[in-house]
Amino acid sequence: MSDFPKNLIQADDLNSEHLKLIFDKAKYFEDNFTNTIQNGEHFPDLKGRTVALAFFENSTRTRNSFELAAKRLSSDVLNFSANQSSLAKGESIADTIRTIDAMMVDIYVVRNQYNGTPAFIASITNNIVVNAGDGKHEHPTQAILDAYTILKHYGKVDGLNVSIIGDIINSRVARSNITMLRTLGADVKLFGPGTLLPRHLNCWNAPIHDNINDAIEWSDVIILLRIQNERMDSGLLPSISEYVKFYQINVANFAKKDKIILLHPGPVNYGVELEHNASKLHNSMIDRQVTNGVFTRMAVLSLLANR
Ligand code: NCD
Repeated sequence: MSDFPKNLIQADDLNSEHLKLIFDKAKYFEDNFTNTIQNGEHFPDLKGRTVALAFFENSTRTRNSFELAAKRLSSDVLNFSANQSSLAKGESIADTIRTIDAMMVDIYVVRNQYNGTPAFIASITNNIVVNAGDGKHEHPTQAILDAYTILKHYGKVDGLNVSIIGDIINSRVARSNITMLRTLGADVKLFGPGTLLPRHLNCWNAPIHDNINDAIEWSDVIILLRIQNERMDSGLLPSISEYVKFYQINVANFAKKDKIILLHPGPVNYGVELEHNASKLHNSMIDRQVTNGVFTRMAVLSLLANR
């Protein structure tokens, strides 16, 4: 039994050695994709196991990539969506998990709009729990796929300058990325409108750029975030046109620099934080992040299930 954690709830559950295991395993799945999956076979890592996808909130990339990851590892998959379950009739999360536990699943992949739901589920089940995004708290597998994308491009993460730009305060992606990128030795700075920055939260402790051009100039990597209207208290932004003027990445500002890559977890609000044409530049990694999301989630599921 290794010291790999039982559950993945937040970025600091993983140290740099755990992350190296994940990246090596993801690379193995990537390198062997053609002679396995495209050859009509599956990897055996989760044979005989069942993964329950418990998504209490909408998702395209994360849910689908976890489903593909589990299936490509030979697992059975239970797709559990909250609005079609008895949760909608008022059944509690605890009773719901007790019911699914009784069907003998092995791994829960949980997304929920409330901070702390995956940790709560981990406290009431003996099964493995993976956080697929909880409220404004954390989204650790997004940070893993982002780091893997950076690693594949630069051959390292250590020593790189990474800027996270946009709606930081409402972003679980930012929270996980700040922790994980620092674990891997990157230097992290933030940028966005004052009302969307965690200036008052000392624990984030990241320097803030003065303007978008300085951010681009300093960075090897930019992680751009969506304006999270569904998580925003009203009145935090004066106007979208002002946001576009001061905070948008577009061809005019981004193409000025050669050695830089652009990441965005999606979904993108095109025309707001990112100009559509800028997403098609050669150094935009947005589609590669999605591809890497499947390989890295395969690695996470395999390592958690076989520790
Ligand atoms: C993110 C999420 O849902 O937290 N997207 C994702 O998982 N790919 C970011 C977002 O919704 O803006």
